[in-house]
Amino acid sequence: MDYDIKDIGLAQAGQLRIEWAERSMPVLRMIRERFSKEKPLSGIVLAACLHVTTETASLVRTLAAGGAKVYVCASNPLSTQDDVAAALVSEGYNVFSIKGEDTETYYKHINACLDVKPHITMDDGADLVSCIHSQRQNLVDTILGGTEETTTGVIRLKSMAERGVLLFPVIAVNDSNTKHFFDNRYGTGQSTVDGILRATNRLMAGSWFVVAGYGWCGRGLASRAAGMGARVIITEVDPLRALEAAMDGYSVMPMAQAAPLGDFFCTVTGDRSVIREEHFKLMKDGAIVCNSGHFNVEIDIDSLEKMAVSRRVIRGFVEEFTMPDGRRIALLGEGRLINLAAAEGHPSSVMDMSFANQALASEFLVKNSSKLSKQVHKLPDHVDNEIATLKLASMGIKIDVLTPEQVEYLSSWEMGT
Ligand code: ADE
Repeated sequence: MDYDIKDIGLAQAGQLRIEWAERSMPVLRMIRERFSKEKPLSGIVLAACLHVTTETASLVRTLAAGGAKVYVCASNPLSTQDDVAAALVSEGYNVFSIKGEDTETYYKHINACLDVKPHITMDDGADLVSCIHSQRQNLVDTILGGTEETTTGVIRLKSMAERGVLLFPVIAVNDSNTKHFFDNRYGTGQSTVDGILRATNRLMAGSWFVVAGYGWCGRGLASRAAGMGARVIITEVDPLRALEAAMDGYSVMPMAQAAPLGDFFCTVTGDRSVIREEHFKLMKDGAIVCNSGHFNVEIDIDSLEKMAVSRRVIRGFVEEFTMPDGRRIALLGEGRLINLAAAEGHPSSVMDMSFANQALASEFLVKNSSKLSKQVHKLPDHVDNEIATLKLASMGIKIDVLTPEQVEYLSSWEMGT
């Protein structure tokens, strides 16, 4: 199987949208230029399990410019942009991903990317790594290492490393500052609001918007929802984060207290069953529930299905569940990442930095894999800083430089005044 996509006829539409996205990805474009001269990934077979979007297409082109042979599958059954998959196939890449694919096809596609015996795995959610470790350990010998895009994946990998079962080094791209400060905060913030609005076309101003989780994604989502005029409630389990949310000006309370108040609910915790039966029982008629965390486990959909006397899809990405007492609860995008299911994921300008980190992480693995332990590693700070410097330059922003006296002052301990 060379590829498995929805419709190759969508290629031209995909190419135009990729062209549009690439205009907002100057850092990745610069890396591509260097890669095409230096070919740091020459001879490398790379399996990429990512959301198949216009931004991912730009990354794939960059990795290929560096000399890699790239195989692509989806990191979520509902996030693929079918026109992008078609465009990539028309450019000669092997892509296995179809929006709305069932679980069996999803794993068939992951396995198709592993059949090629990759030297580098590039994950968003650790599905390649998990599949290799649980079912295909024979592939490990030729793997230099992996990269991981997202918080959920990094948590999975760190727990594997702690238990001593991780069989190759992985670069946690998510842990770069130029990734999580921006992608998780501004990317998730904007794209989640975008997904909710495209799905529902509801007014956010004056509504009660409940954000479960105040990590980087939760912070971004809360600030964007507030910016749209919503009254934001945060639920948390971490006292420090809850305190930060309160001092950022939001109402903070347990989910059981927020449940009867919320018009919108969005989970971004990375954990399971954050909204469950006891909460559905308390919600008001018309409550809208969705998730922007990586896996569709944050909302207990099984309970919602069991509680409902009927269900119907009332518009695209909106399924309405009617409770025995007549209340209706709308679940968006099957509880999957709403920003990628109903919208197009994070805007290109922020993915520019995330995918610059991915491209440089693969180069770093090729150069350093023999020295790296079988742990989860960060990219060196100088790489992170270089990406920030290039991004600032692309935005036409200049910053100050320390004077020699300031450098001396910062490195001395004698001078207090
Ligand atoms: N994750 C979130 N937004 C994304 C995008 N636009 N492309 C790829 N992965 C993403």
